[in-house]
Amino acid sequence: MSKKILITRIIPPVAEELLQQAGFTVTVWPGDRAMTKDELIEHARKVDILLSLGSNKLDRAFFETCNHLEIVSQFAVGFDNIDVAAATDFKIPVCNTPDVLSEATADVAFGLMINVSRKMFYHHKLILKGEWKQFEPLKNLGFELTGKTLGIFGLGRIGSIMAQRCKGAYGMKVIYHNRNRNIEAEKETGAQYVDFDTLLHDSDILSVHSALTPETKGLFNKQAFAKMKNTAVFINTSRGGVHNEADLIEALQNNIIWGAGLDVTNPEPMQADNPLLNMPSVAVLPHIGSATIEARTGMARLAAENIISFYKTGKPITIVNAEVLKS
Ligand code: GLV
Repeated sequence: MSKKILITRIIPPVAEELLQQAGFTVTVWPGDRAMTKDELIEHARKVDILLSLGSNKLDRAFFETCNHLEIVSQFAVGFDNIDVAAATDFKIPVCNTPDVLSEATADVAFGLMINVSRKMFYHHKLILKGEWKQFEPLKNLGFELTGKTLGIFGLGRIGSIMAQRCKGAYGMKVIYHNRNRNIEAEKETGAQYVDFDTLLHDSDILSVHSALTPETKGLFNKQAFAKMKNTAVFINTSRGGVHNEADLIEALQNNIIWGAGLDVTNPEPMQADNPLLNMPSVAVLPHIGSATIEARTGMARLAAENIISFYKTGKPITIVNAEVLKS
């Protein structure tokens, strides 16, 4: 009998096509919202495989109830919604979709940086409000990026592309901080490793590309912002939980830092009355890092291929908890 898969949201059809061609029985949740916890459990109980999204909370209680699952393949590079330790305890492989969305996400970080440095979102809003009256020699000036220092927090695939974009376009000096040095990325990008405090002190643009983990949760807080230049811009395209939003608002309101560009917020969605949305040197996007046709198609393909490869060879292509394959 063929293995049954639940895809928890409608995603690019290539996933379903590939899985059906490979002989799986595929059910796609048809709703235009994330499944509730109860819906997810009810439907996951009936299948062998879950193709999940970041909006599905797969915690220990979920895995205790659904420990029959043979593999969880996530349509995202981030997997902070999944209790990987719990999945590992139940010997369930967890896969993600790195690389295919790196260009797209780095573009959003790069775009936010330019937008914030020239207050573009704010100026657009002024026109919408009918407040573009005349040429203003002294109002709402931005700053130029040429020769500035880019600080990358989390120099992995996306951070490296951001570094290359910034070096190529603006000759920016690149410094970075990671838990462990990334020598290969240093060679590729010319980025220089610094400790966390130096990253905070020296960056003109500080762009976050790390995963959300217990170590990075709330790391960009009041104390961190206080160490940054008052001319600096904070960019976050990874997870909103890496910065403390109240502290960021306070830092911007008190000119502790100059601006911020966010593709991720905490919570998501951000509410329309959030003060960040009315600050001139802030740009906020609704978590669109991977929202290109190319990236989303690549994510759907890789999420399906991880499952197919697991059943064909015993090894998914991009697995998060490889230790389960050994046992
Ligand atoms: C998007 O945020 C992802 O993790 O893929």
